Amino acid sequence: MTNNKETEATLIKYAQDAMKKAHAPYSHFCVGAAILDEKSSIHAGCNVENAAYPLGVCAEGSAISSMVLSGGRLIKKILLVSTGEKLVTPCGGCRQKIKEFSDSETQIIVYHDNKYSSFSINDLLPHSFSDKFLK
Ligand code: THU
Repeated sequence: MTNNKETEATLIKYAQDAMKKAHAPYSHFCVGAAILDEKSSIHAGCNVENAAYPLGVCAEGSAISSMVLSGGRLIKKILLVSTGEKLVTPCGGCRQKIKEFSDSETQIIVYHDNKYSSFSINDLLPHSFSDKFLK
């Protein structure tokens, strides 16, 4: 049984490895994301930019696609790293994408330079739109 610290160390490693594979020739801002799902599987993603700028994909969306493809449906933790100077929190669009696969226990962890901050989806996206409105 792994503890929280070990799990987070593993997520950092996956996110950092993914960040190194980012395709960010326009912003030069590389982001890596690692998700721990409900089956304790880990899914990583990186940002993939495009010469047609709006078509770029964020690291979080890429990790979520990988999770869904593997059959995962609940984000227990998602950890983000970037090459920026600060702890990077998910952009607005990614908050909504994370919301789709989150519950109140989901931890959104940002990591930089041995510093962490952890948020719930409600911290990052209060009063959000969700499937509840479609029923
Ligand atoms: N980016 C992410 O991958 N995730 C975020 O939450 C914020 C921004 C990427 C998009 C773009 O490739 C680069 O960072 C600069 O915005």
